[in-house]
Amino acid sequence: MAHQLVIVLDFGGQYNQLIARRVRECGVYCEVKSYKTPLEEIKAMNPMGIIFTGGPNSVYDEKSPHISKEIFEMGIPILGICYGCQLMAYTLGGKVSSCINSEYGKTETNYDKSSVLFGGVSELPEKEISWMSHTDYISEVPEGFRITAHTADCPAAAIENPEKKLYAVQFHPEVNHTVHGVKMIDSFLKNVCGCSGDWSMHNYAQTAIAEIREKVGDGKVLLALSGGVDSSVAAALLAKAVGSQLTCIFVDHGFMRKNEGNEVEEAFKDSGMNFVRANAKEQFMSKMRGVSDPETKRKIIGEEFIRVFEQEAKKIGKVDFLVQGTIYPDVIESGAGDAAVIKSHHNVGGLPDYVDFKEIIEPLRMLFKDEVRALGRELGLSPVLVNRQPFPGPGLAIRIIGEITDEKLEILQDADWIFRDEIAKAGWDSQISQYFAVLTNMRSVGVMGDGRTYDYTLALRGVTTTDFMTADFARIPYEVLEKISARIINEVKSINRVVYDITTKPPATIEWE
Ligand code: XMP
Repeated sequence: MAHQLVIVLDFGGQYNQLIARRVRECGVYCEVKSYKTPLEEIKAMNPMGIIFTGGPNSVYDEKSPHISKEIFEMGIPILGICYGCQLMAYTLGGKVSSCINSEYGKTETNYDKSSVLFGGVSELPEKEISWMSHTDYISEVPEGFRITAHTADCPAAAIENPEKKLYAVQFHPEVNHTVHGVKMIDSFLKNVCGCSGDWSMHNYAQTAIAEIREKVGDGKVLLALSGGVDSSVAAALLAKAVGSQLTCIFVDHGFMRKNEGNEVEEAFKDSGMNFVRANAKEQFMSKMRGVSDPETKRKIIGEEFIRVFEQEAKKIGKVDFLVQGTIYPDVIESGAGDAAVIKSHHNVGGLPDYVDFKEIIEPLRMLFKDEVRALGRELGLSPVLVNRQPFPGPGLAIRIIGEITDEKLEILQDADWIFRDEIAKAGWDSQISQYFAVLTNMRSVGVMGDGRTYDYTLALRGVTTTDFMTADFARIPYEVLEKISARIINEVKSINRVVYDITTKPPATIEWE
């Protein structure tokens, strides 16, 4: 692709993806590569700059990741962050020692604004807060380097050798707590590396469309559309690229949220592609009768999904390409570039085995989630689809505890819709990572009007999380919860009690089943 490249060289830091996202936010395309990547490979990629990430090790640990000195002789600008900073100093003949006082958290830092890294950020004062997290520090700078920042406990919080275009910071500019940190990264990219900032979703869309056209030729393309952000954006991109050569199969298992199936159909029916909506609710419901075990439910839905997809795919005949909505975090986490592992990340596990195709296309493979959303907007997808929160493949089926019935499904769809509506009205939708209603299998006694009721308890769940591996419950204000509860009780039949789930993950999971 015709855009400038920066390499984020990963030394095992917890912020490797964050650094990469920051670089992209600065309008510069970057790729995360392992520190083990051979130098010839790095050279061949022709990067404008390299950023070393942090890492959990000390440069003196036997197993700590190291790098050949030659990388500093290639004439490519390098920015070292935290461990990357110490590694640069150590490899070039400086000395790294254990801190007498380790620094962790927000730390007042003195910046030398004659450094291009800091001078390039006009709003940065000489004293500002940076985010530190280290137990080693640079006690002697290598020859040719000078110190450009310090703190009370860290004499070399930033060092540089401008002649060789080598820069290093002990703190974490990628973390929000470092005031103007992203601007420092931007200054490195623009003022040191000379990047022009040519990475945008507009350019990406143009290039990706041209590449897809070239690859597909007059072949046939098949895509399993779930209505989630990734598959929707992939579908919109492919539709723009190859139009009627694309068929999207949307298996509607009937467990979507209220109106969601129609929203998906609405978004794609005039896009020029062949859009197939398989209305398979009855088929799924018949298999779910009498089933209440969560794992059995998931298994049945997974199998049935493949069966329905296969039935529809057979009608199309042989296809040449199957599209998958893999995104960059999946690629990084599975060890960058191992296609066999990447497939297992796909929502619809095992799908490729059931469909006869030649090759897989992964048009979002190099994009972060926020970029996927930006691409969706660029392609004109509706905000409803682009901003959709994660939704489990089995849908509401795993949010109805116990056996699923048509009645329960309708109750949950109505209650969940009110929850989402009120959260949006209260302006909380962008602050909660995921929120939904769960229909418990519990009934309790209540009183409504003059009569006794014996109805369902509905649980509301709202979580904040960055990775969905751990999560905290969202602190939704009582007044908002009160309004939601009142509306649900008044407007949805068969619910007489609403509770809010205040469990973190772990020990609970986000979903209830
Ligand atoms: P848990 O419940 O495991 O959920 O804490 C973590 C995240 O994963 C989503 N989730 C799923 N996503 N297929 C999916 O695509 C599934 O079967 C599935 N189960 C859970 C869940 O909504 C949350 O975002």
